[in-house]
Amino acid sequence: MKNRTVTLLKGDGIGPEISDAVLEIFEAAKAPITWEEAEAGLSCVEKYGNGLPQETLESIRRNQIALKGPTTTPIAGGHKSVNVTIRKSLDLFANVRPAKTLPGVKTRFDNVDVILVRENIEDTYGGIEHWQTPDVVQCLKIITRPGSMAVIRYAFEMATAMGRQRVTCVHKANIHKYSDGLFLDCFREVAKEYPHLQADDILIDNACMQLVTKPEQFDVMITQNLYGDIVSDLCAGLVGGLGVAPAGNIGRDRAVFEAVHGSAPDIAGMGVANPTALLQSATLMLYYLRLPSFAKRIERALHSVLADGLKTRDLGGKATTRDFTQAIIHALPPFGSFETSELASPAVMTCEPEAAHVSDREWVLRGADVFIQHEGMPEVPQRVGKMELSLISNRGTKIYPGPRPDIYLVDWFRLRYKATEPLTQTDIDLLLAEISKRFTWMHVEKLHEENGVAMFSKAQGE
Ligand code: NAI
Repeated sequence: MKNRTVTLLKGDGIGPEISDAVLEIFEAAKAPITWEEAEAGLSCVEKYGNGLPQETLESIRRNQIALKGPTTTPIAGGHKSVNVTIRKSLDLFANVRPAKTLPGVKTRFDNVDVILVRENIEDTYGGIEHWQTPDVVQCLKIITRPGSMAVIRYAFEMATAMGRQRVTCVHKANIHKYSDGLFLDCFREVAKEYPHLQADDILIDNACMQLVTKPEQFDVMITQNLYGDIVSDLCAGLVGGLGVAPAGNIGRDRAVFEAVHGSAPDIAGMGVANPTALLQSATLMLYYLRLPSFAKRIERALHSVLADGLKTRDLGGKATTRDFTQAIIHALPPFGSFETSELASPAVMTCEPEAAHVSDREWVLRGADVFIQHEGMPEVPQRVGKMELSLISNRGTKIYPGPRPDIYLVDWFRLRYKATEPLTQTDIDLLLAEISKRFTWMHVEKLHEENGVAMFSKAQGE
């Protein structure tokens, strides 16, 4: 069998320790992989000014597959996240995070088997954040139809390939009516094409409560980037914690596999890290590469070691990374010890999702929200050109017209101007010019209608 070349990023923190454990196990299991090591993480920041050198990205592009150890991301400043950069640069639009009960790992529930598919590029992870005034920050949550369609279709394709029964969309469309509403619409549209799968949806808050009380009811879950980030850690907790939770970042023709956990600086260099999460990510990679017999051998060895009670510190044991790795190597079953049927279903697969085509539509400009900086209630013009002032809000809550709520006012107001007739860009330019005479405006959002339906949200209290 010809070896497959895989880019290896050991990362930083506990990354090198757990990567070396995986390499040893793969070598003992005779997995047909040639590793091409590439740099990423803290060691690169001083050298290159960022955590991800161009050569590393090129290596992944060339090999179309990588195994990645965790990399540290500084909080509130510093270099950009290596993970987010990899996912975006390579368009790895789906993040697959299975959480399955492991033998011998004692948790509150015995029968968890959830695969969470997380959108991996969009949402607030676009990182579009701006200070609006010295007191106010805005972070944009970007949800697109093609991005949502791609990841949702992937979830249904994966569920079908793996013989799963149910796909559940996790969202907050009761509050984020447009962004989560679009995601949910896409889900319903795609679900129609997979009548053999049960498709339903649940609000994120309820999903979390249900997961910590009856997790066995869930099968495949699909959600947006930020919700997926949080819910997948919750799912990891259900099956033994971050030390055992694997993940794969899947794109159209490439994939990067990594553990859910981070660089664990608190235990880095101590030789006590659990390599299970990265090892399980690496076995997901073997399924992806259609090498299920090697994946099954390694999984069986891992399961038997855990069932025998050997555990690292995070799982309540005393084994070092090295003890645990050696035990897995000794437990590797002989080749040919599996039924062919056991090797049939791939755990993760690729798919070629087409972008949704939006049909002809009447997309009409009807007004604008102008955001201004001002201390205290602003005196603003009632009418500008064809537009009337219809609303002033502060922190998303309506303060004009009608009774003013008791909320504390910050120095950032939204002025909504609307017209009953179609507008052009020139009308908005005139509005901004008029507003600029009295105020500093921070940003402007155009208000559209599609076939007579408002394509913008109302303020709370409106
Ligand atoms: P973390 O996942 O690194 O650690 C959280 C807790 O879990 C710590 O107590 C740690 O010791 C423990 N833990 C994690 N993995 C373990 C393992 N394999 N064995 C035993 N214990 C383990 O999360 P934290 O502390 O919030 O983040 C540390 C750094 O990692 C941050 O800079 C963060 O940005 C980065 N990070 C990187 C990720 C990646 O590269 N994929 C993912 C998540 C965080």
